[in-house]
Amino acid sequence: PKVLFVTSEIHPLIKTGGLADVSAALPVALRAIGVDVRVLVPGYPKILSVIKNKRKLARIIDIPGHGEVNLLSAKIPGSDVPIIIIDYPAFYERTGGPYSDKSGLDWPDNALRFGLLSRIAAILGSEKNPLAWKPDIVHCNDWQTGLAPAYLHFAKGTKAATVMTVHNLAYQGIFPPEVFPQLNLPEESFDMHGVEYYGNISFLKAGLYYADHLTTVSLTYAKEIQSEALGFGLQGLLAERSTQLTGILNGVDAEHWNPACDTHLATTYSPTRLNGKKTNKQALQQQLNLPVSADIPLFGVVSRITHQKGLDLLLEILPSIVREPAQIILLGTGELELEQAFLLLGEQYPNHFRAVIGFDEGLSHQVEAGADMFLMPSRFEPCGLNQMYSMLYGTPPIVTPTGGLADTVVDLTPTSLKDGSATGFMLQSFTAANLLQTVKRAIDAYHDKKTWRKLQLNGMHRDFGWTKSAETYLSLYSSLIQK
Ligand code: ADP
Ligand code: GLC
Repeated sequence: PKVLFVTSEIHPLIKTGGLADVSAALPVALRAIGVDVRVLVPGYPKILSVIKNKRKLARIIDIPGHGEVNLLSAKIPGSDVPIIIIDYPAFYERTGGPYSDKSGLDWPDNALRFGLLSRIAAILGSEKNPLAWKPDIVHCNDWQTGLAPAYLHFAKGTKAATVMTVHNLAYQGIFPPEVFPQLNLPEESFDMHGVEYYGNISFLKAGLYYADHLTTVSLTYAKEIQSEALGFGLQGLLAERSTQLTGILNGVDAEHWNPACDTHLATTYSPTRLNGKKTNKQALQQQLNLPVSADIPLFGVVSRITHQKGLDLLLEILPSIVREPAQIILLGTGELELEQAFLLLGEQYPNHFRAVIGFDEGLSHQVEAGADMFLMPSRFEPCGLNQMYSMLYGTPPIVTPTGGLADTVVDLTPTSLKDGSATGFMLQSFTAANLLQTVKRAIDAYHDKKTWRKLQLNGMHRDFGWTKSAETYLSLYSSLIQK
């Protein structure tokens, strides 16, 4: 099949979270099993400057309100995946993030910016496609692409089938009704049975309502989002569509996240050369100015600092953890209040805790490699990639029993230790007390050298590759084409 994969982030060109990693790795895995997939992205400055040899592919002129939009084609650097870039400087050539300016304020015209991304995707999936290449499937990702299934639903003639993947239901792309006329959707779509959501327009709901098939990034999350607790108001619609809603677990890009060949590390290591991990721990302690000690347990966190990630629990018990004693390194950006609270704790416990506020790809790899264990106490987690990176890096994760965390981490118990399945530590409930209890349980296991080695090796030997998931996507695409 021919698949247009539509995304607003792609590693290493533009990234705020896991969507970028998935958008880079899944297309590669799909091409490897014979899917002709091309990736459609907005022409952000870095995409335009880093990608060389761009060819002008087409000029689209009949988009009401937009004048001329150029499509460029190129290859993603370091891979053979074709990329189609929407060259529309008025919307995308801005310094700052993909969704917000430098100070963190959302771009005021996001509805139009991602409305255009969705609209171009729909044009390419319809008879109006000006290219020689016509996709059978338009695969949308998150709210930024949510209007594409709506546009396609109302398009005339033959058209591509649509898949809508939810990477995170918490972000819905909700905009006031005033923008509706500028989006050029038929009047009738502004309805409860359509794109309307409590008087506003919701990009994500549009995708969930109109797409032919829905997926999310783990099996457990697919069930959780049909309940009130994690459905973010969309549980009714999702439950109604449950027969067309599948969970397909994300994989790990083995080229970027592999301690045996990771160029960001002080030294590489593998299950048979685990000593290298000690060198990474030492280098990390030195780099962040923590006392260098091989024996003190070192916890790592790499995360967006948002409500989702449950770091408020960590904040509460951090003083108790460091008294164990233990060291903690946190790398992240996000909510200002939490950032500042963590910085303050860094000043209070200079020998035990370091908060690095910022986005740093290299350091994120160094923390995965140098830490002894990884903390990820998410309130909810559609899939989560860092817990898988951690297991592959011999850094057992401590996680909450939710979404993809529940699907990928096996709690250490006498039974799971014996049968070789244990890979980390699972909280029983989402409370600060239970997090502290689990951290202490992990520290005890850490000091039991034999158990610890076993736990590390179990994780490092897990197969989190993309192949199986790519095959599941392929069967889904094939089933939709046959309909
Ligand atoms: P989410 O997409 O919800 O943020 P994931 O675990 O799926 O969570 O993916 C997060 C990705 O973003 C990982 O690749 C992680 O290493 C990266 N990341 C998050 N915060 C930072 C940061 N401050 N610096 C560097 N990388 C980060
Ligand atoms: C989202 C989710 C995360 C998931 C990622 C990639 O950002 O929060 O759990 O791993 O998307 O699918």
